[in-house]
Amino acid sequence: MTTALCFMLLAALGPAVAGPLPPGGAAPADGTAPDTTLVHVQALFRHGARTPTNPYPSDPYYNNTYMPYGLGHLTKHGRQMEYELGQYLRERYVGGPDGAAPSSGTALLAEEYSTGAVLVNTSAVERTQESVAAFFAGLWPPGESQAWSTDGSRLGHLWVPIPYHIIPADEDRAIAGTALCPSRDLETLRVYKDPALLKAAVDALGGTETFEYTKKHAGITDQQIAVLQLAALYSALACQEDLNMTLPEWPRPVYPEPLRTVYHLFLTTYSYNLQLRQQNFGDLTTGILSAARQPEAHPKLLVYSAHDSTITAAITIFQLEPQDAAGMGIPEFSACLLFELHRDASGALGLQFFYRREAGGPLVRMIPKGCGPFCPLGVLQSILEDAGELPIGRYKCDVPLTTEIKID
Ligand SMILES: *[C@@H]1O[C@H](CO)[C@@H](O)[C@H](O)[C@H]1NC(C)=O
Ligand SMILES: *[C@@H]1O[C@H](CO)[C@@H](O)[C@H](O)[C@H]1NC(C)=O
Ligand SMILES: *[C@@H]1O[C@H](CO)[C@@H](O)[C@H](O)[C@H]1NC(C)=O
Repeated sequence: MTTALCFMLLAALGPAVAGPLPPGGAAPADGTAPDTTLVHVQALFRHGARTPTNPYPSDPYYNNTYMPYGLGHLTKHGRQMEYELGQYLRERYVGGPDGAAPSSGTALLAEEYSTGAVLVNTSAVERTQESVAAFFAGLWPPGESQAWSTDGSRLGHLWVPIPYHIIPADEDRAIAGTALCPSRDLETLRVYKDPALLKAAVDALGGTETFEYTKKHAGITDQQIAVLQLAALYSALACQEDLNMTLPEWPRPVYPEPLRTVYHLFLTTYSYNLQLRQQNFGDLTTGILSAARQPEAHPKLLVYSAHDSTITAAITIFQLEPQDAAGMGIPEFSACLLFELHRDASGALGLQFFYRREAGGPLVRMIPKGCGPFCPLGVLQSILEDAGELPIGRYKCDVPLTTEIKID
């Protein structure tokens, strides 16, 4: 499902370009466009590898509690991934070990954490909080002056506690999109049942026969919301595989592909249309843009510890197109989208976007459709307004009192 893209390395690019540029602009290996200075960064990342959130009907591990993690929590591998992501961003924004220059070209962040150096938002889903803890162990280990253990243990030389903010589930219009909003629930249900979505899933699976085969073996009975259930199946299998658990034989013809493609279809349901993008992620869109407009009013680093659906939504909302095939496809565990705020030679602010789709993968430049690698904030604002993504708040949450919302 990844389309090979021609990766063009163009020569130097001019500074602020106020008009549309063809996509595929300059992308030097270090990721910095010439003539701009990095002033601020917002990192939106997915949690690391986790245990399944729920079993599928015929799951041989149906009753497994996945202790010591429990359901839907970061595993040991997940902690490793987030720790590595923290180290990766340290190399990019602080510098490498032994005084190596930061790969972004600018030492944006200090060597050590200090209070106020970062603002972290997570969802109320605990794996995003676990991810933050592991991430900061990699990004900001304490220097000697901050080492705190007095009992001779190494811990105080390796780790300092760093606080984070949890957006309450019923107010979350940014990360997990779980804010109380009946009209959003109705719309989500309508999308799950959208015949076009079902058809796309059947087509992805190669036809009705494979679709029926998969449903039958997985124990999926509900035709109407089959996409949701097939996604849960894919997700459980992927988590179990990551835990080296033995998978049953029957999924072999469909796992990982083409089920993975069905999972991708499911991911798009969170941001299927303008209404869902606004009601699920509107605060993220405005939060990212308002921080970019006023970098001096914010810490140099803003972190959103999030989900694959959040990253998929942000890519859709900002209309980001990867400049390398490595950036295509679904956000894997600990995928990270960077919104780098740069100032050009004329003093204008603009965003540059980068995406690391999977742990250990390459950093790929992303370019908003109709803009350049350095996208001036005003141009970006117009692009989002023209697409209807802004202003947010156009969709009301109330529905008629008699409306019944249920997944049957
Ligand atoms: C899960 O537990 C229930 C109730 O004890 C049992 O009936 C079922 O067979 C178990 N499922 C599996 C896959 O072990
Ligand atoms: C799974 O197997 C791989 C390869 O042998 C190993 O590196 C990894 O640590 C294992 N993961 C778990 C959770 O045991
Ligand atoms: C992140 O948390 C801060 C601090 O509570 C809050 O002011 C801000 O609105 C949050 N951002 C988003 C996008 O929810």
